[in-house]
Amino acid sequence: MMSYESPKDEIKRAADIVELIGQYVQLKKAGRNYVGLCPFHAEKDPSFTVSPERQTFHCFGCKKGGDVFSFWMEYHSCEFPEALRELAERYHVTISKGFSGDAWREKEALKEALFNITEKAATYFQMELGHNVRGKAAREYLRRRSVSKEIVSEFRLGYAPDKWEGLTSFLKSRKVSMDMAVQAGLVVERKGGGHYDRFRNRVIFPILDLRQQIIGFGGRVLDDSLPKYLNTPESPIFHKGETLYGLHASHQAIRQKGRTVIVEGYMDCLALRKYGLDEVVATLGTALTDRHIRKLKGYAPEAVVVFDSDEAGKKAALKSLPVFLNEGLSARAALLPDGHDPDSFINEKGADGFSRLLDKASFMFDFFLEQKLKQSDSDVEGKVRVLKEIFPVLGLLHNDAQRALYVRRVSERVGIKEDVIWSQLRSVRKTRSEKSVESNLRQQLAASRAEKRVSDLQLLNLLVHYPHTAVRLAECECKVLLSDPVIMEIVETIFEKFGLEGQHSVEDLPESLKTESARNRLRETLIEPSYYPEETVEQAVAEFEEKVKRVKISASILRARERGDIEDLNRLLKLKAQGPPGSHV
Ligand code: GTP
Ligand code: MN
Repeated sequence: MMSYESPKDEIKRAADIVELIGQYVQLKKAGRNYVGLCPFHAEKDPSFTVSPERQTFHCFGCKKGGDVFSFWMEYHSCEFPEALRELAERYHVTISKGFSGDAWREKEALKEALFNITEKAATYFQMELGHNVRGKAAREYLRRRSVSKEIVSEFRLGYAPDKWEGLTSFLKSRKVSMDMAVQAGLVVERKGGGHYDRFRNRVIFPILDLRQQIIGFGGRVLDDSLPKYLNTPESPIFHKGETLYGLHASHQAIRQKGRTVIVEGYMDCLALRKYGLDEVVATLGTALTDRHIRKLKGYAPEAVVVFDSDEAGKKAALKSLPVFLNEGLSARAALLPDGHDPDSFINEKGADGFSRLLDKASFMFDFFLEQKLKQSDSDVEGKVRVLKEIFPVLGLLHNDAQRALYVRRVSERVGIKEDVIWSQLRSVRKTRSEKSVESNLRQQLAASRAEKRVSDLQLLNLLVHYPHTAVRLAECECKVLLSDPVIMEIVETIFEKFGLEGQHSVEDLPESLKTESARNRLRETLIEPSYYPEETVEQAVAEFEEKVKRVKISASILRARERGDIEDLNRLLKLKAQGPPGSHV
């Protein structure tokens, strides 16, 4: 097997983790580190931390972390070899040809082959759209719908001609395996054998990922026939629930403007782009998922979703609120006037008209509240019904300040005292979790151990930032101060490496740890600042030594008491009373 060591190291030297991650997650400087909203789990307050010094990232919420490779693999859901190849390309590092042949290769090769086919197909569709005769009707159609030439070429729009075996023969002539073309979703197998085109007589919208590779296609009929749109099915490279049309072209604008405009359709997305509203993406006719939102919140702190004013549009808005709340992305809902969709609206009112609509958008929660109030009678029963629907949503808020604000809003709008809402809310939450007694108990137990945990954290922090203290701390047996098994594992390993083996660098420490949670914890501590300024290290070690002494005395007192050895007990109690002040730390 090839060793990846050297290209890997070369990439690590060439890459800057802050710059790389910064392209996908909005990062803010916070002391020595950068922080942002974690792209890997739902959160409202940034606990995703990137350390330029250590060239690592770590999420204090979901505990994911590591180096540039770990980020790439996690973010793009790929394996190490793929990450290596892609990062090598990005940083102009050469990898020798022999690099292949592992288990991942098959999957990797399959995706590669599929991208190859989608690329060929896109070129074919583009050619057909440009064809003097065959592309005429489609070009007419796009013109009628005000899609400009620039948009056509930027988004690589195309046309699938009205033939059963247009693309099929084209791909065959390019030696593409029909099995693969079927997997890419472009070609369909005939029952009696043979193949035919999935897309016929449709305008084609290629769907690109952030790496500008074509993962799938959408196709629209030129008239009123059904189905109006057709998409390629799910495939190893196409996952609808996480794909946002247009993101490949709009992510920079989204970052610059600090918001994402979310619309429903291909045409809507392209229309907004034409008018210079570049921060737009479209879902592919599916509801917004947590994966969509997780992706977006890395680029901007706010989203405005533009909904049709019809029932379906309102329903979709209401349904999306919990998803936004769960993921902690601030969202507003812009409602279009009757009979309009974003495409028709912006073509009629222009960019200014559309911007005004966006400015008027209300916060999703308010929208939710107003809709629910509108739907119910204003009598007691109606109010009860509204509250019943609002409580679960209020319960989703993780942020207390936000919840307080919304409780006030509900109180004002529904005409019910805040106190009543709070007490109801508490009881709703209580009955929802039958384990609340148990978790309450657990919390109390944890609190009584909190003091012990302080030692754990302090000791670990001291050792990681000043590994030379390992010798003295190991000698005084400060392990007796620890209660967390994960921290114990790390401390023991540090003692071994730095105390016994005389090592001096923490760089390869993670590899010496056996458990994942220990590695996570270590990374966390490495990224955290040191609790101890250089000049207090000596004193800190001395305090730990003192603390160990006192723990030992306490243990001896316990034993003396059990033995009934009054003499020894008195001696020990005296010793304990002499302890220096501040030893309660
Ligand atoms: P236009 O009529 O071209 O303006 O389409 P639209 O975008 O206004 O259509 P609509 O609002 O009806 O649909 C929004 C999105 O839902 C589309 O862009 C498609 O992604 C998806 N969609 C609509 N109709 C269909 C369909 O019949 N099949 C599938 N698979 N998706 C559809
Ligand atoms: Mn439309």
